[in-house]
Amino acid sequence: MNAPVDPTTTPAWSALTDAASGFAPDLRAWFAADPGRVERMSHPLADLHVDLSKNLVTDEILASLVQLAEQTGVQERFAQMLAGVHLNTSEDRAVLHTALRRPAGESPALVVDGQDVDTDVHAVLDAMDAFANRVRSGEWLGVTGKKVTHVVNIGIGGSDLGPVMVYEALRPYANAGIEARFVSNIDPTDMAQKTADLDPETTLFIVASKTFTTLETLTNARLARDWLWAGLTASGAIDGTEAAKTGAVAHHFAAVSTALDKVAAFGIDTDNAFGFWDWVGGRYSVDSAIGLSLTIALGPDAFRDLLAGFHAVDVHVATTPLERNVPVLMGLLNVWYTNFLGAQTHAVLPYAQQLHRFPAYLQQLTMESNGKRVRWDGSPVVTDTGEVFWGEPGTNGQHAFYQLIHQGTRLIPADFIAFVNPAYPLEDGGRDVHGLFLANFLAQTKALAFGKTAEEVEAEGSTGALVAARTFPGNRPTTSIFAPGLTPAVLGQLIALYEHIVFTQGTIWGINSFDQWGVELGKQLALQIAPAIEGDEDAVAAQDASTRALLEYYVAHRA
Ligand code: F6P
Repeated sequence: MNAPVDPTTTPAWSALTDAASGFAPDLRAWFAADPGRVERMSHPLADLHVDLSKNLVTDEILASLVQLAEQTGVQERFAQMLAGVHLNTSEDRAVLHTALRRPAGESPALVVDGQDVDTDVHAVLDAMDAFANRVRSGEWLGVTGKKVTHVVNIGIGGSDLGPVMVYEALRPYANAGIEARFVSNIDPTDMAQKTADLDPETTLFIVASKTFTTLETLTNARLARDWLWAGLTASGAIDGTEAAKTGAVAHHFAAVSTALDKVAAFGIDTDNAFGFWDWVGGRYSVDSAIGLSLTIALGPDAFRDLLAGFHAVDVHVATTPLERNVPVLMGLLNVWYTNFLGAQTHAVLPYAQQLHRFPAYLQQLTMESNGKRVRWDGSPVVTDTGEVFWGEPGTNGQHAFYQLIHQGTRLIPADFIAFVNPAYPLEDGGRDVHGLFLANFLAQTKALAFGKTAEEVEAEGSTGALVAARTFPGNRPTTSIFAPGLTPAVLGQLIALYEHIVFTQGTIWGINSFDQWGVELGKQLALQIAPAIEGDEDAVAAQDASTRALLEYYVAHRA
């Protein structure tokens, strides 16, 4: 693997440092003086229309950012990723989530480390489709001969956030009378509440875990199995013998993992197990077999359309010049805000209730990928790295935290995502409610960009201290992402867009965006502390003073 380029030594970085010094953005003046700005800075990305014009950049700054991408080798590294080079150096793995959405029969075939990747990917997709069709049609039955009405995905992190986000986004496509639910937290409340009203005879669990070792997922899988056995035994559906229990698991459990041996050891029939590979990172896995719950609830066609959406963006990134390459441009803008203008966070504000889990999904994608302090050769990073991503759907956020974005002291770049056509076209007294919703999206991006001057406030009759309080400074940067509707393909495009934004930033910073060692220490310590919770005095004594005191509080207050 090449040593990472130190971005701060590039000519582009120097030009951007100069541009940032004394930078005084003025979107009002820039828009007034330049009627071509919006057209020049708006780009198609498959079905998406992406308007970058309300960002705090001039053409010169954008040109320097593009040069930064050239000088740090973003496009070359993207080509390496597509070809299966082991970019995940700390785990010595290829990074091939883009292979999960290559259409069948692509030429030349993708063969990496001796594996015929295309053939393996499509074999699993076909198996998923066949399984989903059996469940959807009622050919697959529970142990008492009833059709499945609920699919419960048990997973966490990438084995949960992607499926739940996509399911919520595409619920209008659920067309087989099967509801999906998602259990992730080891807090037993999650399992208890999600199964409370379910019938074991019509419930299918999918245990989704890349490693099949994750504490939360395996604990919840055992809870689910106990719940199934207890329910079926109580109703007399099974007689409680080991053979009957094994039979029940065979009818009510499927699994998705890279570790099919561990799936079998858990007692799940490997005929009901779907594999993927170590070159798919957890947070990049929604388009692998991890999407099995989606294939069942939304249907194989919707899942294939989702994959086609991803692929369209992969093709765009690989083939579009950097000046018009939307994921690269958005990644570069994030670098500009983070490294040159001091932004610490980035808001993602979908004007779509269906995308209410999209910010949470992006938090894992962006922050587990680029929350790093060393580069891929082990040397310390030379710049600030990943921003804090956060957000909530509009218009809810408008009545909660937008105040700070409009008038606070911090720079918070924000992505607004909206759709022309609603899934539910409701009217309020003859008025299109979705139109009103979109008016809010347009109003917010306008207010953030152009603000409201003291003169305008005074002209409305305000005086004294109220003038300053009611003045909006503007120049708050936003990107608007607009699409005709929230279809499976459009959702795939959106996810891939952010995957490649992450890639662009990670490459410029010299980061391996595909490992996540930062989650390991807490996992190890939880296993060490668990005996202390269970009363092991030596384990209590081994803790630090604060942890010991918290354990004492726990013991004193335990019911
Ligand atoms: O939190 C760490 C992590 O490894 C994530 O990267 C991953 O998505 C999640 O745990 C779940 O892992 P698994 O799919 O192996 O259960």
